[in-house]
Amino acid sequence: MTDDWWRGAAIYQVYPRSFADGNGDGIGDLAGVRARLPYLAELGIDAIWFSPWYPSPMADGGYDVADYRDIDPAFGTLADAEALITEAHALGIRIIIDIVPNHCSDQHPWFAEALRSPSARKRFWFREGRGELPPNDWQSRFGGPAWTRVPDGSWYLHLYASEQPDLNWTEPEVHEEFEDVLRFWFDRGVDGFRIDVADGLVKDPELPDVGGAAERLPYSDMDGVHEIYRAWRKIADSYPDKRIFVGEMWLPDPERFALYLRSDELHSGFNFDFLACPWEPDRLRAVIQSTVDAHAPVGAPATWVLSNHDVTRHVTRYGRSGDTGFDFADRRHGTPVDRELGTRRARAAALLTMALPGGVYVYQGEELGLWEIEDLPDELRQDPVFARTKGSDPGRDGCRIPIPWSAPFGESWLPMPAEWAGYTAEVQESRPDSMLHLYRKALALRPGDGAMEWIDLGPDVLAFRREDGFCCVVNLGCTPISLPEHESVLLASGPGAVEGEELAPDAAVWLREASA
Ligand code: GLC
Ligand code: CA
Repeated sequence: MTDDWWRGAAIYQVYPRSFADGNGDGIGDLAGVRARLPYLAELGIDAIWFSPWYPSPMADGGYDVADYRDIDPAFGTLADAEALITEAHALGIRIIIDIVPNHCSDQHPWFAEALRSPSARKRFWFREGRGELPPNDWQSRFGGPAWTRVPDGSWYLHLYASEQPDLNWTEPEVHEEFEDVLRFWFDRGVDGFRIDVADGLVKDPELPDVGGAAERLPYSDMDGVHEIYRAWRKIADSYPDKRIFVGEMWLPDPERFALYLRSDELHSGFNFDFLACPWEPDRLRAVIQSTVDAHAPVGAPATWVLSNHDVTRHVTRYGRSGDTGFDFADRRHGTPVDRELGTRRARAAALLTMALPGGVYVYQGEELGLWEIEDLPDELRQDPVFARTKGSDPGRDGCRIPIPWSAPFGESWLPMPAEWAGYTAEVQESRPDSMLHLYRKALALRPGDGAMEWIDLGPDVLAFRREDGFCCVVNLGCTPISLPEHESVLLASGPGAVEGEELAPDAAVWLREASA
């Protein structure tokens, strides 16, 4: 295990509730993950990122943390987590866990105390209202006002659900608490943290109205947030082996984004521009180039992500008629989907993503080619987004359906569609052309973290060269294209992708160029 393992790592995201159910109660758990570690090792990933596994009332699927130093009983125990970390390490897999510092659960002891005694409210943002109105015009990212009133008439701030009160990072105690939580898990062998809402911790202390067309939100990407990460970095660096941070920052400006990746701050951050980008050659080329350009000056590796637990699965996005991008403001559920096309593009996108320089994230189920389940009955929907927007946004449940390991399926907290019986890991294992086998081969062959160089094969084609004659070609046009000269075909995105010397539309190939 080299020191810079994270720079070119392939990291697999586990959403614990939906990954694998070890005890058959319909909810994923750590026993289930432990049983599937060999599957993940064989897949060829370097690390697992766990969405929150802490005790939580699950008002936001675990992103409402009631205790940062334990495991939710539905998932197992702290001892299970420790065993999991040890077993993963033995297989060469690192462990990254989510930390949620912007807010905690309303069931966290700090908030319970704050509700009981107004003198204990400094750790949160309690304010008096404006008459009967909230203290300012901030809106929750899940819909509705970002303020909720408590029985004595005060209001508290929550940028997400009302069960997720925002912590007040002007309080030294909040800093001390989270620094201690980092050490708690680092001491248990965790290799890194994914930082939830990493840009959001610091608020403009005046809590000004956002108003109509705000240039910059007074609760996102405030300069003071960098100081927090400089302190965290010192803690990570105090461990002899390399412990890392990856930040979740949805920021419009790639240069502001890169500030988080300076050498004394976070090691990496999620690249959402790439995820949100439609399946269009010019836009993808521009996003890839601006990503590489923004990362170069800070010397941080880029990361490439196609899907996660918050966004519409990319098989569905790429198969849609019209816009194939992703936008939180409009999930476009119900738009007609050509799933065969979406799957073909997803296969090509996998090769594109894994050929780019830097780190890559794989969201659980992506390797099985799973798609968004858009027709969940309303009464089963659990994402607070659905209720808070009064159903106008269906929310994120459709990408959080449990993973189909083998059919028949048992009961689970969200039901698996019957059609997934044909897409189980077991079925795909037995089919050499399956998405699962494509992911395994690609993860085994993907290049490292060196530079990339574009090759011009026309406007509809993304083509670039990496180290050792490795070259990736993606055809986003509507007609076959001729392949550039090469010594061998390393991997094609699917059956029929390469015919003779031609690459089919919506297909990708990895080539080895003739050595000079
Ligand atoms: C992040 C998480 C999302 C969660 C939100 C609030 O965006 O990825 O799932 O709901 O933060 O914690
Ligand atoms: Ca279970």
